[in-house]
This record gives sequence, C-alpha cells and structure tokens, in this order.
Amino acid sequence: LRIVVAGAGAIGLLFGGILWLNGGDVILFTRRRGAAEAIFKEGILIESEDGVQQARPQCTTEPAQLGDAYLTILCVKSYDTEAVARMLYPHLPHHSLILTVQNGLGNVESLVQIFGKKRVIGGYTTYASTLVGINRVYQAYRGLTVIGRHPLTETRLADVSMVAEELTRHGIRTLHVDDIYPELLRKLAVNAVINPLTAILRVRNGEIAENPSIKPIVERVLEECVIAIKRLGAVMSLEELRQTVDEVARATARNMSSMLQDIERGRPTEIDHINGAVARVLREVGLEWSVNEVLTALVHGLESRGAGYRGDPR
Ligand SMILES: NC(=O)c1ccc[n+]([C@@H]2O[C@H](COP(=O)([O-])OP(=O)(O)OC[C@H]3O[C@@H](n4cnc5c(N)ncnc54)[C@H](OP(=O)(O)O)[C@@H]3O)[C@@H](O)[C@H]2O)c1
Repeated sequence: LRIVVAGAGAIGLLFGGILWLNGGDVILFTRRRGAAEAIFKEGILIESEDGVQQARPQCTTEPAQLGDAYLTILCVKSYDTEAVARMLYPHLPHHSLILTVQNGLGNVESLVQIFGKKRVIGGYTTYASTLVGINRVYQAYRGLTVIGRHPLTETRLADVSMVAEELTRHGIRTLHVDDIYPELLRKLAVNAVINPLTAILRVRNGEIAENPSIKPIVERVLEECVIAIKRLGAVMSLEELRQTVDEVARATARNMSSMLQDIERGRPTEIDHINGAVARVLREVGLEWSVNEVLTALVHGLESRGAGYRGDPR
C-alpha cells in the first residue's frame, strides 16, 4: 500500500524515513528540487540518541509521479495546506485517503473543501523532529500519533482504523479515536500557550511551567481558549487545560518549539492558525484584542524582523 508523504520538512522527513525503514512503500513529495536531489543522492538521515539511520524512500517534485497512493499524509505547514492539496488533488486516486497531522485550526476544513467529506482523516502527533539539514532531521521525541474522524467528515471508521494499523505496522505508533475534534482543540490550546510564549521570550518549553512571571498570561490564554472551544462546539475545563499544558511543558522541557525555530530561521510561523484562529473565534463573541490576538500581533512583529533576529534560547 503506497503512502505519499507531502512535504519534506522536519516531520515529513521523519515520517517518510521511519515508514521506509519499517518496510513501507513511501514516496515523498516536495516542492523544492534541491531537497529532492539531496534525498535521491543520500536518502533521509535521521539522528537520534541511538545514532544516525539512513532511509532511501523515493522522492519527487512532480505530483504526476506519485503513483497509486492509498494514503497521503499532509506534513506541510498549515498556511500551505490548501496550496499543496490543490497541487496533489488531480494526481491522487479518487478513493485514496488524506491524513493531516498538522498543528493549528483549519487543516481538516481546507482538505474537506478540496477532497470532499469521505476521504479526510484528522490527527495530531507528539513525535518531535527538528530539521538539521536539507535531508537530515533530529528526532527529539518518539511520541504517539492519534487519528480519528472529524465531525466535518464522513470518512468510514474502518478506514481510520486501517490507517492507524498501517502506520503502526510501519513504525509510527498510532491510535485511533472515533472523534478527533476534542483532541485537536486540546492540542490547539497547548500550542496557543507554548508556541508564542517560547518564541517571544526565546526560551525552551520547560520555562512555561517554571517561570512564575508568565503564569498570568498562561492563565488568560487558557481562559480564552475555554471560551473559544465552547463556541467551536466542545467543552473543556480551565483546570484540565492548565494541567495538560503543564504536563506537556515539563515532558518537552528541553525542546525548542517549532514557532521559536521558525522565528530563529526567519521563516513564517503558524501563528494565524493557532492564536490567530482562537482570536477570530473570540471576536465572533465580541471579545476584541484578546490576549491571543495580542500574542498573534507580537509574533507577526517578530516574523517581520526576518532571519537577522538572533539569540540563544536558554
Ligand atoms: N516538527 C515537529 O516536531 C512537529 C510535531 C508535531 C506537529 N508538527 C506539525 O507538522 C507540520 C509540519 O511541520 P514541520 O516541523 O515539519 O515544518 P517544517 O520543517 O518547516 O517543514 C514544513 C514544510 O516547509 C517546506 N520547507 C522545509 N524546509 C524548507 C526550507 N529550508 N525552505 C523552504 N521551505 C522549506 C517543506 O515543504 P516542501 O518539501 O514541499 O518544500 C516542508 O514540508 C506543521 O503543521 C507542524 O505544526 C510538527
């Protein structure tokens, strides 16, 4: 069963590499010819505590060469979901499945617009990967991937569980749940706290749980997330979100968040799909200039400074 991994960034290289190392029939799709050439010549190099592993999956910049895919895993940033999905759509078999493991709100929504309701599967992953070269990643954490049906979709539960089995069989530990939506909203709240604060303060994740000065901001962001999540159709208590954020910040204490990495590399962040998305929901209920909106503006301010913005995270 052929799996397309769309996007040769940190998570795409990690997933593509792991699937190939565990016997998967994988092809990577990248928009960058240089990345495709490096993967063709040297394969994907995965660094971890256990050393460096080399994987040699196929890779292409041509959607027409993807072949008879059973599953496509979207691994681009949320702001590129729609563009990449439109590039791939005409070249993927009409029965094939599309899985997103991206962060932020709006990925499933964009994919349903393009692929329809019956093929899209929502999900998230706690695997952690950092790009350290064009074809090389550092695997910081061997996590868990959770996938499930989203309320906007009518994907068959049998297809969801089969994808979870296939991924697990090929090295990516994956659970399936009947309804992924509450899980995605919980992940959204965690990202809404950890990503912008680590990027603005230039600190590693652990600081979010340790630094008493930022506790009132964390608290306010989460209070706003409770309101937004309710408006989005789920119920989550402030206490449970507070506990989840604390657990994630401690478990990933030495990690640099993806938003901090993007700021340091001068690349755009996913802020509009995380805090920006929460802020838009809050505006619908009359709350202007929420803390989520302030954080969105601050991160845009950092983005506009470009790659010249330097500093070693503590
Ligand atoms: N990294 C993680 O540990 C992790 C964990 C959980 C969730 N996620 C989520 O997974 C999604 C992808 O994240 P990511 O960390 O893989 O992002 P990333 O490393 O920035 O890669 C994202 C995309 O950017 C393109 N890209 C990579 N390097 C580039 C460069 N030097 N110049 C221009 N374009 C480049 C690649 O697309 P092309 O190959 O098509 O050019 C790639 O798919 C996001 O939604 C993220 O939130 C990531």
